[in-house]
Amino acid sequence: MTQRVALVTGAMGGLGTAICQELCKAGHKVVAAYHPEFDKPDEWTKEMADAGFKDFVCVSGDISSFDSCVAMVAEAEAKAGPIDILVNNAGITRDRMFAKMELGQWDAVIATNLSSLFNMSKQVSSKMAERGWGRIINISSVNGLKGQAGQTNYSAAKAGVIGFTKALAAELAAKGVTVNAIAPGYVATKMVMAIKPEVLQSIIETVPMKRLAKPEEIGGACAYLASDIAAFMTGATMNINGGLYYQ
Ligand code: CAA
Repeated sequence: MTQRVALVTGAMGGLGTAICQELCKAGHKVVAAYHPEFDKPDEWTKEMADAGFKDFVCVSGDISSFDSCVAMVAEAEAKAGPIDILVNNAGITRDRMFAKMELGQWDAVIATNLSSLFNMSKQVSSKMAERGWGRIINISSVNGLKGQAGQTNYSAAKAGVIGFTKALAAELAAKGVTVNAIAPGYVATKMVMAIKPEVLQSIIETVPMKRLAKPEEIGGACAYLASDIAAFMTGATMNINGGLYYQ
């Protein structure tokens, strides 16, 4: 297979780590992008190296800031070469019932989970089209499809991710660049573990498979979408949610 350069945002989180590992196992050179405030990049890098993933290139930047993305992608390209695969994975939650939600909680989630797709994709999509090959993979959520009480901000952003994916896919379809989304259900990561235990238990009971997803079950789908064999798939949303919701 051809080795490609893959940049993953939110790379050092639970889902991001699994995505980096699965892309690496598929033979790609992985650029792990993390937020400047993440305080353990060296620890993460060492942990990865101990697990056999020795060649990750690390860059940091704030994906909610356009200027930060310009600088971060330039650094990534200088260190690893042109970006062939972009995984827009980084995301945050600021869960609160709408009546109590503050403007700052709305703005933060929209900026990080949705505007970041503009900020990051802008840096790479035209160059991918010029080279005639590219993959943009956007991590949405089951809650962007079904809506979740306590998550008007997150559900709106994640639904927006799907609209963005379809529109950009249509623009790039003839240029060898595919744009797809993955809508995971509840995955066993820190983000989900932050839900109150009794609330989380009641959520798991609504999942037909009665369990959380393993991060690698999402990472594996990412590796598939990034592959040559996925060339005919674009504008799609892969639901990986244990049967929680079908479109
Ligand atoms: N549907 C409708 N009403 C609900 C509800 C639901 N699912 N859950 C709670 N409520 C209602 C309660 O009945 C209660 O109503 P009353 O005040 O009339 O009694 C009210 O909401 C409680 O509101 P509070 O603001 O007091 O609740 P809280 O502060 O204890 O918790 C919350 C609010 C933080 C949003 C909590 O409900 C929660 O964590 N919910 C889960 C949200 C969720 O699923 N987040 C996913 C995070 S992981 C992720 O996002 C990854 C992914 O992609 C899947």
